[in-house]
Amino acid sequence: MSTSTFRLHYIAKTAAGVPRDLVNTFISAKLHPIRPTVLIYNCTWVCDAKCTMCSNWKWGNRKEDLTLEQLEPVMDSPFWGAVENLNISGGEPTTRLDLPQMVEMFHRRLPRLRKIGINTTGLTPARAIPMLTKIVKFCADKDLLLSIRVSLDGIGDVHNQVRAVKNGFDKASKTIDAMQALAKEHEHFQFGIASTIFATNMEDAENILAWARTKGLDVVFNMLRFTDAMLHNKELQEKIGFRAREEEFMRTFFIDRVKEESVLSGQSFMYLHYADMIANGYHRTMPCPFQSQGLLLNPNGDLHYCENSQKIGNVLDASAESLYYAAENLRHRQHIKDEVCPTCLSPCQVNVGAMKQFVPYARFLKRAYAVKRDPARHIDTLPQPVGQ
Ligand SMILES: C[S@@+](CC[C@H](N)C(=O)[O-])C[C@H]1O[C@@H](n2cnc3c(N)ncnc32)[C@H](O)[C@@H]1O
Ligand code: SF4
Ligand code: SF4
Repeated sequence: MSTSTFRLHYIAKTAAGVPRDLVNTFISAKLHPIRPTVLIYNCTWVCDAKCTMCSNWKWGNRKEDLTLEQLEPVMDSPFWGAVENLNISGGEPTTRLDLPQMVEMFHRRLPRLRKIGINTTGLTPARAIPMLTKIVKFCADKDLLLSIRVSLDGIGDVHNQVRAVKNGFDKASKTIDAMQALAKEHEHFQFGIASTIFATNMEDAENILAWARTKGLDVVFNMLRFTDAMLHNKELQEKIGFRAREEEFMRTFFIDRVKEESVLSGQSFMYLHYADMIANGYHRTMPCPFQSQGLLLNPNGDLHYCENSQKIGNVLDASAESLYYAAENLRHRQHIKDEVCPTCLSPCQVNVGAMKQFVPYARFLKRAYAVKRDPARHIDTLPQPVGQ
């Protein structure tokens, strides 16, 4: 389906939850912690690539992955009853042959689920295409919004180099073509590609954009970041983190995307904030639902509040609910909020949080229109960092 039609479906589903969201925001701020509404499940670290900007592939160990038999009892609790957005990532999710059954299980156990997102390399098309097709059909049947993105970090050899996979571009292209065809047939399915730009592939960013446009593909550009709980790549920061040249390139690149995108899209919101963060010394002004209502579950059952939280326990040793509400863990979450959030680059479900915070969102829209009209004035329009 087209991105704009999908967006309308998403906004309609989000709007349906607004009164509850307002109550939730009040409760989370004033009374006691609310249940998670967003969940990231890294279902395995096993991978079919060896990327240069992510080290998850070094951690793959199938024996440690929770099986569905272990996972379903964990999810069998009213505690999960508020989850609306689920992202399945990894590692490479399609290396799990039970991925379609996993989606069915989440549908059974998460009564408020509205949207599932899946990130994939698409590098093993013979396995991935039938599996993902099954998931698309299941979600269409159950009226669940589904978004799948194949990662593409360059055109041709650049992609092969970033992912360290022979013929990686051709392999990913097969999955891309099959998914794109499927998206045309299914209203509830949004398909696109995702690119992570850093020094190695920066020269190719415009090519990726041009290639995606020729094919009529939606593309999201990830901001390079370093997190052990999600990417096992903190040790790469020194080596591949942005220098001044990459920062200036990316700031301009993100502003160019704001110029082109509809300001109502989640992407535009994210790109403007990333351009702001580069320009303001990495002060975050984006909201994040993980500050008050999110969880990250890793393959072996380790639970984190978000990609920058420490492990708060393991769901095989204690219930997710008891870990989520433990006083000591909530103190840690407050610590993250005070110390880590102010400079965090995570995009995690940012638009979920954004649209629900009406006044800041209205402010964003006003500014985005101003930057769109005159991109050269971006730096003059920077908002004050949070807390100042
Ligand atoms: C960690 S991967 C997991 C799913 C799958 N293996 C894939 O590559 O699509 C999820 C997304 O994170 C992106 N990513 C990898 N390293 C990153 C980094 N250092 N900073 C930001 N995003 C990154 C990938 O490009 C991909 O789009
Ligand atoms: S980005 Fe994806 S494919 Fe690359 S190593 Fe990380 S998990 Fe694997
Ligand atoms: S550290 Fe980042 S991901 Fe975690 S809650 Fe804060 S903003 Fe969100």
